[in-house]
Amino acid sequence: MDKHHVEVLLSEEEVNNRIKEIGAEITRDYAGKTVHLVCVLKGGSFFMCELAKRIDLNVSLDFMSVSSYGSDTKSSGIVRIVKDLDEPLVGKDVLVVEDIVDSGRTLSYLLALLKDRHPNSIKLCTLLDKPDRRVTDVHVDYTGFQIPDVFVVGYGLDYDQVYRNLPYIGEVVFDPE
Ligand code: IMP
Ligand code: MG
Repeated sequence: MDKHHVEVLLSEEEVNNRIKEIGAEITRDYAGKTVHLVCVLKGGSFFMCELAKRIDLNVSLDFMSVSSYGSDTKSSGIVRIVKDLDEPLVGKDVLVVEDIVDSGRTLSYLLALLKDRHPNSIKLCTLLDKPDRRVTDVHVDYTGFQIPDVFVVGYGLDYDQVYRNLPYIGEVVFDPE
């Protein structure tokens, strides 16, 4: 890791309040249905747990892990399934829960793959969106916050596998040499 420090970009309170709002929106939109949350590990896990608690409907959960990043902060463009879902998606109302949509490569690959499994519906929910960085067209149904092109950590997001446990969204500021 290059020399850096972390500054608060979105406080714990701001993040948690926004998750409550999204939970209420999902509760309205999916009334009468069971929402099948698909968490994209590891980054989506903190967001998914908070969000699931704010959805006042039947919720089922599954997890998958894809990898598109090495230890660098730039996308390699290579997406690999590291862990697949446990359950089939046939007939389910699937909501994919991600930490961040950056270039969009991971999500466009993943959504195409999951659509092939014949869910009843499939939508995408992301805590953070960096629209300036998009190279692939991805439709996001629920967004927590749009953020500028900065490298962020916390609430599930890592820098070289650390900082996922920060209860807020921090910006990584690289110190001059
Ligand atoms: P995409 O395929 O470029 O959209 O990359 C999405 C993935 O890159 C996310 O799920 C994160 O794991 C990672 N990522 C993108 N931006 C950041 C960031 O600012 N901090 C930490 N991880 C990031
Ligand atoms: Mg991720």
